[in-house]
Amino acid sequence: MRPLVIAAVALTGLCTAHVQSAAGIKALVQRRLPNHARDFTFSLTTLPSSYAPTNSTTSKQNDEYTVSNSGNNTIHISGNSPIALASGLRWYFTTYLHLDIYWFIGSRLHLAPQILPPLNATHHGSSIVPWRYHFNTVTFSYTTAFWTWDDWELQLDWLALRGVNLPLAWVGYEKILTDVFLDAGFSADDVAGFLSGPAFQAWNRFGNIQGSWGGELPMSWINSQSGLQKKIVARMVELGMTPVLPCFTGFVPEQIGEYYPNASFVKGDQWEGLAPAYTNVTFLEPFDPLFAKLQKSFLTKQTAAYGNVTSIYTLDQYNENDPYSGDLDYLRNVTSSTIASLKAADENAIWLIQGWLFYSSATFWTNDRIEAYLGGVDNSDMIILDLFSETQPQWQRTSSYYGKPWIWCELHDYGGNMGLYGQVENVTINPVQALANESSTIIGMGLTMEGQEGNEIMYDILLDQAWSSKPLDSRVYFGEWVTSRYHGAASLPAGLYSAWDTTRQTVYNNTEISLANAVTKSIFELQPNTTGLLNRTGHHPTTIQYEPSVLVSAWKDFYGAAAQEPTLWDNTAYTFDLTDITRQVMANAFDPLYANFIAAANRSLNATTYAPATAAQTGQRMIALLYDLDAVLAASGEPHFNLAAWIATARAWASPTTDLPVGSATAGSVNTSLIAQVASFYEYNARNQITLWGPTTGQVSDYASKQWAGLLSSYYVPRWRMFVEYTMNTTTTAANGANAALSASLLDFEEAWQVQTWGESLGESYDAPTTRQGELQRVLARVVRAWPEVFGVS
Ligand SMILES: *[C@@H]1O[C@H](CO)[C@@H](O)[C@H](O)[C@H]1NC(C)=O
Ligand SMILES: *[C@@H]1O[C@H](CO)[C@@H](O)[C@H](O)[C@H]1NC(C)=O
Ligand SMILES: *[C@@H]1O[C@H](CO)[C@@H](O)[C@H](O)[C@H]1NC(C)=O
Ligand SMILES: *[C@@H]1O[C@H](CO)[C@@H](O)[C@H](O)[C@H]1NC(C)=O
Ligand SMILES: *[C@@H]1O[C@H](CO)[C@@H](O)[C@H](O)[C@H]1NC(C)=O
Ligand SMILES: *[C@@H]1O[C@H](CO)[C@@H](O)[C@H](O)[C@H]1NC(C)=O
Ligand SMILES: *[C@@H]1O[C@H](CO)[C@@H](O)[C@H](O)[C@H]1NC(C)=O
Ligand SMILES: *[C@@H]1O[C@H](CO)[C@@H](O)[C@H](O)[C@H]1NC(C)=O
Ligand SMILES: *[C@@H]1O[C@H](CO)[C@@H](O)[C@H](O)[C@H]1NC(C)=O
Ligand SMILES: *[C@@H]1O[C@H](CO)[C@@H](O)[C@H](O)[C@H]1NC(C)=O
Ligand SMILES: *[C@@H]1O[C@H](CO)[C@@H](O)[C@H](O)[C@H]1NC(C)=O
Ligand SMILES: *[C@@H]1O[C@H](CO)[C@@H](O)[C@H](O)[C@H]1NC(C)=O
Repeated sequence: MRPLVIAAVALTGLCTAHVQSAAGIKALVQRRLPNHARDFTFSLTTLPSSYAPTNSTTSKQNDEYTVSNSGNNTIHISGNSPIALASGLRWYFTTYLHLDIYWFIGSRLHLAPQILPPLNATHHGSSIVPWRYHFNTVTFSYTTAFWTWDDWELQLDWLALRGVNLPLAWVGYEKILTDVFLDAGFSADDVAGFLSGPAFQAWNRFGNIQGSWGGELPMSWINSQSGLQKKIVARMVELGMTPVLPCFTGFVPEQIGEYYPNASFVKGDQWEGLAPAYTNVTFLEPFDPLFAKLQKSFLTKQTAAYGNVTSIYTLDQYNENDPYSGDLDYLRNVTSSTIASLKAADENAIWLIQGWLFYSSATFWTNDRIEAYLGGVDNSDMIILDLFSETQPQWQRTSSYYGKPWIWCELHDYGGNMGLYGQVENVTINPVQALANESSTIIGMGLTMEGQEGNEIMYDILLDQAWSSKPLDSRVYFGEWVTSRYHGAASLPAGLYSAWDTTRQTVYNNTEISLANAVTKSIFELQPNTTGLLNRTGHHPTTIQYEPSVLVSAWKDFYGAAAQEPTLWDNTAYTFDLTDITRQVMANAFDPLYANFIAAANRSLNATTYAPATAAQTGQRMIALLYDLDAVLAASGEPHFNLAAWIATARAWASPTTDLPVGSATAGSVNTSLIAQVASFYEYNARNQITLWGPTTGQVSDYASKQWAGLLSSYYVPRWRMFVEYTMNTTTTAANGANAALSASLLDFEEAWQVQTWGESLGESYDAPTTRQGELQRVLARVVRAWPEVFGVS
């Protein structure tokens, strides 16, 4: 049992203006279980600050809570911070009520019984690290680009209950930045030419790209996002979190020389082959006095907008963008000038940096350069996110970042890709080892996925690992997770447990990280080719790191559970997961069809195996499989599996209230054609990000591909149809698979798809169906009958 008394020393330097209460956690209970608002009582054992004072990154205590029965039939939770209270609350929810809140599925907490069970015994919990972090800068584009306040509220409750106290908060950045630039003398056109579209802001913020293709970012977007950020930051603070806010990075409109001829600025790298107009972003050198001036302007405006709620700032200047010089003094100068600019505006400033650069650009970032770069900042003034700790940790080679505090982060997913995948041993064993005996400066654990795509159990387990000093036993963990996950069904058949236990040991236990180290893609999401698709390794692997038949047997157990317990069809967690597992089984089945097609299709590919009739038939099967997968995804009724839902959320940001042109009258003069134009621009952004990802020929094509209903039928199927026809017709396929005519036709098709609009191809609106379970059941029954070899049934 750990003492709850907090050493007085931890309280020195706290700012009493930010003392918190349990009100935010009480409000969470009121929001999610209104019937039980009086059944939980809370008390804080100490009065923490809402934000980190100087040195707090290393001196902050671990969070601790106690859950007990109080004399009057309430559950009492005490703890040393609001997030400790929230963590105790979730412990009770999952352990006693078997209820939780989930991505996509939402909160299940309203299913709590009328009479809450009392505890068998008082329970104490303690985090093993003071900080739990969430988000990657790019999550704000891949996942949250078009989120509404409702989406954020759910996400923030999810984070609070899982003990996250250090969330990144990028929304609305462009509002402050625009005001800073306008004040500094840039014209509105300069700023408009600098900012990127709503689906690409993350890379503009990183200084990888500038400008927007397909249209300009409307001021209405900038203003409404800033309004959203006010709510987000306020809620984070209410829940007892320390938001990590942006600051001025140094990236500026390219016209800077016109206004500041003596300023020191350089051009950044060309990123991902984009035309220079969209990249090679201008970077104001941090030692230039103008840098500190703009920093002061930024932080002053930001504090005025969102309050003085944090001193931790996210700041990445060299993400996939190498410094102008590798000279050690230069690197030290950059960081010392940058931190000085922050400190001049906020004496408590702490700089949080994504450590991705040290991995992605390891040839530039030799150890002496990293040491020089980090050396420009005092150890207590920086936090480093070791961004991909489960696979490519950098903290060992840098001797724990030469003494800087750092956070062990699970990245897991690139581009919001969708595939069942996990490295369950790495995320339970490795952070505990780092903490126990390998690094003295690890201060947190966190999640830095590029997209929140699924595989939620792999994220849950890391955040729960942050409360256990021994590696969690995944067998026990998965079992308990299943019990909470499908709460509400009349019974939970053994098949649910066996399915998850099978995947735990296989799908979620990849140990060959040289072959695959992140969420998998299916080859059908890639531009068709006769070569180069199968067995890709690395961050977007297409290799399947388990026996596909093992997943089929897990699927059988899982699907069979509903035959035994039909109330599962009314359980959204079950129908969601059934859809997801079915998706993976069908995606895996595409590979052998493709391999057979390639062997049989074209005499010039392989004269021995050439068999045109087989090829024709196999080609049809490939297309049919994709259509049937599309049908299953659509029948699930889940927005998360649907292109239409993604587009609808984008279009919804163009609205009569937000897109009135500046200066126009308000009532009665809604400019519907302007709204339609803005909606189409948002839709273009939404489509472009998940397909060509870039202004012209697809710079990062298919990086952020998705297995979504509507996307299969309207994008992947037509590509594969063209491929099948061409491959069978042509005899000129080169050995490396290159086919210039096919390439050109595919690109024509892909480009045309970008500018289609919702109204033309998909109907006017998307409302998530609420009672589609019957349809999923029906469609699945048909699809399973149609593909006995895929589902292992006869
Ligand atoms: C922060 O740490 C430094 C070095 O350990 C120390 O000199 C300073 O007094 C500390 N500041 C606070 C506010 O605790
Ligand atoms: C129940 O007990 C808790 C803790 O002792 C106390 O804070 C709360 O006010 C009590 N509630 C009622 C309704 O008496
Ligand atoms: C509490 O005790 C009851 C009766 O022994 C038992 O069935 C139940 O599983 C226990 N609950 C927890 C969460 O330990
Ligand atoms: C853009 O950056 C690349 C280096 O990545 C460089 O070779 C090129 O000259 C730059 N172009 C411009 C216009 O600055
Ligand atoms: C950084 O470099 C600039 C330009 O060479 C110089 O004026 C400045 O004094 C340097 N600052 C530090 C902290 O080294
Ligand atoms: C916020 O308040 C603290 C404590 O009063 C102060 O030191 C800090 O400079 C303020 N931050 C900003 C950005 O104004
Ligand atoms: C991940 O776990 C495997 C064993 O399952 C181990 O071999 C590997 O070293 C771990 N990776 C890292 C980055 O620690
Ligand atoms: C994961 O796979 C490794 C290597 O095959 C094995 O040693 C380990 O027991 C497995 N872990 C789990 C949780 O299944
Ligand atoms: C991909 O890997 C599988 C399993 O190792 C193997 O059977 C197949 O030949 C490989 N395919 C290619 C194209 O390398
Ligand atoms: C063609 O297929 C045969 C039979 O599978 C195989 O032995 C041969 O290596 C293949 N040739 C080429 C060029 O792929
Ligand atoms: C393939 O050949 C058929 C029959 O000659 C023809 O109708 C079709 O247009 C061709 N398709 C392509 C993509 O060339
Ligand atoms: C197929 O892959 C090859 C080799 O990477 C490439 O040259 C070609 O453009 C790709 N696409 C087509 C349709 O040929």
